[in-house]
Amino acid sequence: MSLPFMDIFKEWAHDYDGAVSGENPEYKDVFVNYDFMLQQASQEAFGHTIEFGPGTGNLTHKLMQRGLKVTPVEPSEDMLKIGEAKTGLSFVTGDFLNFDVQDYDTIISSFAFHHLTDEEKHSALKMYYNALPTGGKVVILDTMFNSMEEKQGMIDYYTALGFTNLVDDLNREYYPYKSTMQSISKKVGFKYQSTQMNRFAHLQVLTKQPFKRPMDLIGDTPMVELTTFPLNTGNRLFVKLESYNLGGSVKDRLGMHMVESALARGDIKTGTIVDATAGNTGIGLALAALKHHLTLRVYVPEKFSQEKQDIMRALGAEVINTPTEGGMIQAREAAMAFAQSTGAYFTNQFESLDNPASYQSLIQEIETEVDRVDMIVAGAGSGGTFSALSEYFTDAHRVVVEPEGSILNGGASGSHRTEGIGVEQWPVYLKRENIDAIETISDIDAFTKVSELAQKEGLLVGSSSGAALMAALNQQKQFTHQNIVVIFPDAAERYLSKGIFNIEGE
Ligand SMILES: Cc1ncc(COP(=O)(O)O)c(C=O)c1O
Repeated sequence: MSLPFMDIFKEWAHDYDGAVSGENPEYKDVFVNYDFMLQQASQEAFGHTIEFGPGTGNLTHKLMQRGLKVTPVEPSEDMLKIGEAKTGLSFVTGDFLNFDVQDYDTIISSFAFHHLTDEEKHSALKMYYNALPTGGKVVILDTMFNSMEEKQGMIDYYTALGFTNLVDDLNREYYPYKSTMQSISKKVGFKYQSTQMNRFAHLQVLTKQPFKRPMDLIGDTPMVELTTFPLNTGNRLFVKLESYNLGGSVKDRLGMHMVESALARGDIKTGTIVDATAGNTGIGLALAALKHHLTLRVYVPEKFSQEKQDIMRALGAEVINTPTEGGMIQAREAAMAFAQSTGAYFTNQFESLDNPASYQSLIQEIETEVDRVDMIVAGAGSGGTFSALSEYFTDAHRVVVEPEGSILNGGASGSHRTEGIGVEQWPVYLKRENIDAIETISDIDAFTKVSELAQKEGLLVGSSSGAALMAALNQQKQFTHQNIVVIFPDAAERYLSKGIFNIEGE
């Protein structure tokens, strides 16, 4: 550490406590809310805490009050004596870059980190990153400037007031810019957060986060607001972009949950799982099979998109086509027959209660993302997504979406171009009392909305999303001042071979 500062510590030691409590008018603005700032900083600490530059021990005292194990590391003999007397702890001699303490969870410092040059700050943070465990934190409470202009403005202001000590201090020490701290922290690997505490001080919290693994990218999808479609007064349209899941659809949640629940129950005996799917469930199941070293066989009616079938194969699934005319019902029968003859585990998305139970994470995310859900709109293929949402958001207007040729609104089962939604028989877990409206959307309307979403919002979604949007736009006409949440299950790219941007069809 830059040793020329040691002499300053000698002078400072005896009036430091006076300065922080506002007795020195020049430093009054620096230490506004000093006690509160220390309190906030101390609350960020956990576990074994190293405090660098504890000075006269004010923050140390707060950390001890929280019952933490604290090791104070202080370079100044004079400060150290006062701090030791105040806290009853013995301080270790050392500084930010020279210390010998092992196994700590938090590194904390108040009003001292600026003694390091930016280069030294970088070395120090790199060293801390390597030494901290995952989840470990660096907590820095110190003066920092939002910009070069802000710093110069403050120097001019305090020069005009005649605060020469403070101005010398601002010119001499290495108070960083926020952008510098952000970029050093990021380079080193920390997640960086900062909160401005007064005119000078910022509380910065740097967290060592584990790198995510690909399988962690299921859930936590973005919720965005659409503003380019005409809405009744005060209505707001929020869409959940499920294509951001690892396998590209809402069904990743389903695949992972059905497999993990079955594993937890001990239901998977042979190491093979099987189901019938339009494709997205198969992709979710394939990811779960990879994660848990299982083998997957899926039965897919021929008509469904080649892209989804290719993706399932790429992820290691065995894909068996069943005739288009037999629909999902025939694919299901084939899957069931395979399970019965081989002992493979049939995940049974169309009947298993594990299906609706898969969407707890989706519900929780919506709850935190949108204040008040007045209307919820989702398509039904297996019916799992809508069943889960409608069971939970009971105060909302619950709209289930199907294509023409699906049987929810009555009528016979028939063909449609809209993929992923549409039911041939009433889903066992779908409760009629949880449906406030059924919207039956034509292929042409669904595909028109897909094209409009691309052109107006830059959103490339599948046809079941287009149908869901059409349904939401129809339903919202009856209401004002509603928060409308719509589920967009997947993206357009997996339907390019099906002419998804060709509205009239082939
Ligand atoms: C593209 C797409 N949209 C919507 C759904 C419907 O979801 P659920 O089966 O939960 O009703 C699916 C299901 O396969 C799908 O693939």
